Amino acid sequence: MCSSVAPRLWFLTDRRIREDYPQQEIMRALKAKCCEEELDFRALVMDEVVLTIEDGNLGLRVNGELITAYPQVVVVRVPTPWVQSDSDITVLRHLEKMGCRLMNRPQAILNCVNKFWTFQELAGHGVPLPDTFSYGGHENFAKMIDEAEVLEFPMVVKNTRGHRGKAVFLARDKHHLADLSHLIRHDAPYLFQKYVKESHGKDVRVIVVGGRVVGTMLRCSTDGRMQSNCSLGGVGMMCSLSEQGKQLAVQVSNILGMDVCGIDLLMKDDGSFYVCEANANVGFIAFDKACNLDVAGIIADYAASLLTPGRLTRRMSLLSVVSTASETSEPELGPPASAAVDNMSASSSSVDSDPETTERELLTKLPGALFNMNQLLANEIKLLVE
Ligand SMILES: Nc1ncnc2c1ncn2[C@@H]1O[C@H](COP(=O)(O)OP(=O)(O)O)[C@@H](O)[C@H]1O
Ligand SMILES: [Mg+2]
Repeated sequence: MCSSVAPRLWFLTDRRIREDYPQQEIMRALKAKCCEEELDFRALVMDEVVLTIEDGNLGLRVNGELITAYPQVVVVRVPTPWVQSDSDITVLRHLEKMGCRLMNRPQAILNCVNKFWTFQELAGHGVPLPDTFSYGGHENFAKMIDEAEVLEFPMVVKNTRGHRGKAVFLARDKHHLADLSHLIRHDAPYLFQKYVKESHGKDVRVIVVGGRVVGTMLRCSTDGRMQSNCSLGGVGMMCSLSEQGKQLAVQVSNILGMDVCGIDLLMKDDGSFYVCEANANVGFIAFDKACNLDVAGIIADYAASLLTPGRLTRRMSLLSVVSTASETSEPELGPPASAAVDNMSASSSSVDSDPETTERELLTKLPGALFNMNQLLANEIKLLVE
């Protein structure tokens, strides 16, 4: 704590992820920011907090200490796949009801906890989404195999609570799907989704903070598989993104009510996008490296700006602001950009930086592993459609 002078800013995370890169970096950046701006800083983990209602009023205790000075802003990092309404969300609701500004808010986190919930929020807003089916009944997976047939094979199947690409499959045909159904755990419902063939093995990760695009990264799988997640061996490289793509990411972030999020976009041949998913607890180790950014620093700047509304740091004000489209307007993806990701300028150490490079040119410039990926990819698609 640098100073006992208000305003107060807290960082609240979960013991299980406290030591991970994003949390460590956010902690570092918040500490530095609070020191610089003489803000009162405190870092907590969920299980240190005791929620009270005494004499009809909400209150808080931390490790036996009665809290009397509440934070104005709380930066929250909770492991989204494990988030439970009855535990983590209860703490966040409590703080919010006490008047704290949470970043992200509990409702926004909930919108991203389950992939189908995210799509339920986005549907009806003109956001391009691949056709997706899901169910509520616990025994419904087998029944859905028939129902989802209209989505055609190969078909994407995902656990609605999956993460890091681990619970996402490309089902070849009905028999493959039936086999999978016996092999997988059914602790959360699955969703069945139209396979966006053009985006096989690649997608675009966009990080949005405070409604502004922080940066964009092209992710490619290196082994021919459909999932481009870096945690599965995918590689990320900085890319630029068309105005339409940026607008879409910001629109999604706004609809979901996010302060900080990572939006994954699937690429179509005509240069437009489908939304794949939104991550409330976005990781950024690969992103920082590929884009040469300090995402944690931007998050800290934004958190501080919430304490003094109307004031943005230079770093925040430099972030890309896309033309403000109404959240409920028709799709703002106008005429397609000339390339799927407009002028992808790869600037990772492995690829020359060239603002004029289109995606097609970029892929032909990729190093061996990535170039082989395209060969593998072609083979796999051939096998799947045969
Ligand atoms: N419908 C789809 N068509 C093609 N590729 C997809 C589709 N859905 C997901 N993918 C690929 O799989 C990856 C993981 O899917 P995603 O829904 O983001 O789950 P996770 O939360 O595990 O990252 C995506 O980043 C993308 O590369
Ligand atoms: Mg993802």
